[in-house]
Amino acid sequence: MTYIIAVAGKGGVGKSTLSALLVQELAARTGKVILAVDADPNSNLGEKLGVTVEKTIGDLREDLVRRSEEVTGSKHQEAMYQLRLAMVEGRDFDLVTMGRSEGRGCYCYVNNLLRTFLDEIMSQYGHVVIDNEAGMEHLSRRTCQRMDVLMVVSDATRVGLETAFRILSLAREMEIDIGKSVLVINRVTGELPASLKEMVPPGFSRLFLLPQDAAVEELAMASSQLTSLPRDSLLREAVNQLIPELR
Ligand SMILES: Nc1ncnc2c1ncn2[C@@H]1O[C@H](COP(=O)(O)OP(=O)(O)OP(=O)(O)O)[C@@H](O)[C@H]1O
Ligand SMILES: [Mg+2]
Repeated sequence: MTYIIAVAGKGGVGKSTLSALLVQELAARTGKVILAVDADPNSNLGEKLGVTVEKTIGDLREDLVRRSEEVTGSKHQEAMYQLRLAMVEGRDFDLVTMGRSEGRGCYCYVNNLLRTFLDEIMSQYGHVVIDNEAGMEHLSRRTCQRMDVLMVVSDATRVGLETAFRILSLAREMEIDIGKSVLVINRVTGELPASLKEMVPPGFSRLFLLPQDAAVEELAMASSQLTSLPRDSLLREAVNQLIPELR
């Protein structure tokens, strides 16, 4: 059964960084190809994983909506094939980039097709990591109905923690089937200050702290890809320690 990890949180807290490292470290551990899904319209998971994305699912969706009357019967298979072509193959991961969300037009048919495509694709992998856009839109759209772990990332601020709590509450309201919900406070130096500890919202099954990592900052100045982040970097090591705890 596919193990689905969804990463959510406020803007700029490190969702894509964590997602990319999870993909790389899960692949290294399992020796299997991981499915990475970039569900942020402002896509950059590909860059972080060191690959170029030519076409997004959003681009294809527009094409399909324009030709919607044609896409019936055997054309359904053709559309699925086209969607598959929009995937990028990395060394130890495959990447689906969702791209922009809908423009104007009737998307019901195409969205159903997309859902079927994603379900079918996801079922072919042992692990799927979904990097979501900031905020909660993606939860309201319910593109993902089931996840084994919802990782809500926050920075070490009150606003970040409040947003994390709202995201968890909304996910519950939307009746998304969530195995485990974990709160990840990223870019922590040393211990969490006592004032923030008191603000850690209830309802999460686990709390993880990820360190502020100078190597990540340095790398971000030169490029956006994380493939060259050293094995012994603070953040990579912390992500490695976190992975067994997700089960
Ligand atoms: N633990 C860390 N130590 C140092 N820098 C970090 C750490 N985590 C993330 N960063 C930096 O913070 C910035 C934002 O990270 P990232 O792009 O992963 O956030 P995001 O939540 O995906 O943002 P967005 O909401 O825009 O999608 C990047 O420059 C990244 O290098
Ligand atoms: Mg991001």
